Amino acid sequence: MDNATFRIDTVLSDVHLLLPNAQHLMTRLNAVAQPVFVSKFKILKDVEERESASVSGCTVPSTPTEGVQEGVEEEEDASPPRVSHTPPLDEDGDLDVVRRRPLEASPGRESESRTGRGRGREATCPIIIIQASGDAEEGCGEEEDEDADEEDVPRPDIIRIEHTMATPLEDVGKQIWRGAFLLADFILSRQADFAGATVLELGAGTGITSVVAATAARTVYCTDVGEDLLNMCQRNITLNQHLTEGKENQVRVRQLDWTASDLCTDPEEPFAWTEDEVAHLHDETSLIIAADVCYDDDLTDALFRTLYRITSSLRKPSRVYLSIEKRLNFTLRHMEVTCEAYDHFRHCLDELSNMEDGRIQYEVERVPSQSIPQFFQYERVQYLELWRVTAIQK
Ligand SMILES: C[S@@+](CC[C@H](N)C(=O)[O-])C[C@H]1O[C@@H](n2cnc3c(N)ncnc32)[C@H](O)[C@@H]1O
Repeated sequence: MDNATFRIDTVLSDVHLLLPNAQHLMTRLNAVAQPVFVSKFKILKDVEERESASVSGCTVPSTPTEGVQEGVEEEEDASPPRVSHTPPLDEDGDLDVVRRRPLEASPGRESESRTGRGRGREATCPIIIIQASGDAEEGCGEEEDEDADEEDVPRPDIIRIEHTMATPLEDVGKQIWRGAFLLADFILSRQADFAGATVLELGAGTGITSVVAATAARTVYCTDVGEDLLNMCQRNITLNQHLTEGKENQVRVRQLDWTASDLCTDPEEPFAWTEDEVAHLHDETSLIIAADVCYDDDLTDALFRTLYRITSSLRKPSRVYLSIEKRLNFTLRHMEVTCEAYDHFRHCLDELSNMEDGRIQYEVERVPSQSIPQFFQYERVQYLELWRVTAIQK
């Protein structure tokens, strides 16, 4: 596995490639022979650390759209306006492609670069610790790490996550996406809202946002599809149990497929729900979260059908928080820069807020990103958004 194999639909999350000083530790191959890495993410409690958390040198400079968005974000209580998708253009009207600057060298990084560590996106050098058997139910690998030092002792400010680096589209959940961090930032900034709550996460991927939610919430149902992905997610929950030590808070990894009409309660199936859990979910859930889950129109439709079905069957009033990254693409079909997945997401939000079924009503609003402090080091790009949907039962 020295060389990564790229297929035509291979996708890469910017999160790992842009972490300026991250060590990407390859620990094993998963059941489908993808290299699995462990990354550590520090929760920045200190205000100064937080203020410098957006990865330096990588933020997208001002574009014609930026002013529009900032104006939108300041009006927290206004109904969600349509954001213009005017792409950045040069004087001739050509698309102005913004290239990321290489990450700046720092004294500390000089010695790192000699060892091949922490050189940013050009040189992501995995350090192979062990190649585990891939049995998802075994321990987290930590005790098998001969080089384990005090850095590997669980710390209350460090989240450790197993993930892959590059995957085919159907496995995107095995990477971490920036939307997961935006949502995690929001949760950490609103601990009182999440304290003691029952939370349902949809499309949880590696489970990082559920891990953060569980620092405050009493129960988190961390859901996704695919046995291999759910196994990885379960490992991550186990890896981070120390964050909820001494509390009764717990994360339950469960299967929840937006394209299915019901929760899977077949005990023969991995990560199935018990009847008690289904009842508990419906009786107690008040918060639903989902990060970066709208990238394919059919799946987005299925997600919104699921949101409608679940929110209208909950006993408590509920709020849904959805993060999304507006990814701009140039398409030959349109001969212009478009963002179809984002446009479809906004269309679904509009449909929800205009829905009148006599039983439930939805209020949709955008949470201004500037109001969310940054607790993790990642690139808080301007195209990263958080939306709140409040379900009001009549
Ligand atoms: C781009 S990833 C985001 C993962 C994670 N929330 C994050 O932000 O790092 C999209 C997630 O949606 C999940 N997903 C796709 N189709 C799904 C479906 N039909 N039911 C449930 N989850 C699905 C994927 O498995 C994946 O974990």
